[in-house]
Amino acid sequence: RTVHREAFSSRTVFILAAIGSAVGLGNIWRYPYVAYSSGGGAFLIPYLVALLTAGIPLLFLDYALGHKFRGSPPLAFRRLSRWTEPFGWVQVLMCLAIATFYACVIAWAASYAWFSLTLAWGDDAEAFFAGTFLQQGEATMFGGLVPTVAIPLVLVWVVNIAIVAIGVERGIGRLNRFLLPLLIALFIGLVIRSLFLPGAMAGLDAFFTPNWAALGDPQVWIAAYGQIFFSLSVAFGAMLTYASHLKRRTNLTASGLVVGFSNSAFEVLAGIGVFAALGFLAAQSGVPVSEAAAGGPGLAFVAFPTLISQMPFGQIFGSLFFLTLVFAGITSLVSILQPPAMAISEKFGISHRAATLSVGTVAAIVSISIFPTTTGLNTLDVVDNWINNVLLVSNTLVMVVVVVWVVRKTPMLARHLNGVGSFKIGGWWTVCLGIVTPLILGWTATQSVITLLRDGYEDLPGALLATFGWGVVGGIVVLAVLMTFVPWRNEDHLAAGVDLDD
Ligand code: PHE
Ligand code: NA
Repeated sequence: RTVHREAFSSRTVFILAAIGSAVGLGNIWRYPYVAYSSGGGAFLIPYLVALLTAGIPLLFLDYALGHKFRGSPPLAFRRLSRWTEPFGWVQVLMCLAIATFYACVIAWAASYAWFSLTLAWGDDAEAFFAGTFLQQGEATMFGGLVPTVAIPLVLVWVVNIAIVAIGVERGIGRLNRFLLPLLIALFIGLVIRSLFLPGAMAGLDAFFTPNWAALGDPQVWIAAYGQIFFSLSVAFGAMLTYASHLKRRTNLTASGLVVGFSNSAFEVLAGIGVFAALGFLAAQSGVPVSEAAAGGPGLAFVAFPTLISQMPFGQIFGSLFFLTLVFAGITSLVSILQPPAMAISEKFGISHRAATLSVGTVAAIVSISIFPTTTGLNTLDVVDNWINNVLLVSNTLVMVVVVVWVVRKTPMLARHLNGVGSFKIGGWWTVCLGIVTPLILGWTATQSVITLLRDGYEDLPGALLATFGWGVVGGIVVLAVLMTFVPWRNEDHLAAGVDLDD
């Protein structure tokens, strides 16, 4: 018996959806401040090394696992080798964790698209963001709900759950077919506009001026690998799940290269646009670019509003910029919800729709009760850091070592990729996955754990880190192992649709 598995109608729709997943808040909101605080122009080097040694090879691995074994991460890993199932659950649970805060940043962007029309932040965008808008108080464990942030967040979740529930082609495929071209056009328009702002070149200078000393700083390499994984959506199960919805006989490697390089092009362009705009801000206000860029996660929500107020027709530029963030975010958010929804549907033998509604509702409730609160900004920072720099790197490290050295399935997966792929995978793929990636991940994971244990994180209270950092990471690992012991309700899913010889 074959279990019906929904598929994207064509490779083009798959590529659009995969680019939609990759290009997200990570490119526009996260990359510029990470790059700037990690060596500026010199960051490009660790970033490209991370892309070529880990990003692209792992993207191929995700595609091969998803496409060959035609299942959500836990199912695909189980089919690879029965006891590797927990890796899949860790991926699925990491998706749920990032979905909870990712949705919240989209909600902020949606609010700011609206605020831009009236320049609602007044003269002090910083005080507006943390104070008037987010109402941040002391860094405590839990904070009071801020309804003006919670309401747009509810809407983001409704849209997200609805699209994923509608299905792979009619929901996710259609969303991307419509939004991605719009997103690209808007984005390129905004970058070009920002290049013509007075002072733009000084901004680019700041962005591209390399700080070579930074290359010797382990934190910079950790940041580069963390950024590549998050940005490419690899090793989270998102690409694996999308590839499982691809028809048989598809050129996977060429698709992977298109997705990988489009995402990085978007990222570098976003950096250029953001820093051109910061250069303008610096020229207008006399604040040096370095200070304007120091905003960290608040960069997009503090520096941008400030400059929007100062440019001609800033209202329009501003709402288009924040709309671009919303579009980029929502096409990624659906890819973050799809893997957990698929996994629950397959494990418990319930329909995709029922699974999406139940998983989505639980995630939405957690998200709404934790992040739009008076301490939500701290919590968000902690969860993001621990998932990306602790759990993702460790899970991926153990996973590649097991796949390459213990179950030894990379030659078989390479054959699968090469079956139709126009870009042939050779020995370098196994070398990257089996040696380079584990060495670098082993080192970065160790460094980041040691640093966090020794120094804490951004002077935040230990209880907060213990709960939302270590607690969330530990909880996910335990839950992943427990889920593996839950029997698969629908054994058909286990047997169906896998032809190990193709
Ligand atoms: N790649 C997305 C971004 O850059 C985020 C993402 C992470 C999407 C993990 C799916 C899975 O914003
Ligand atoms: Na990205």
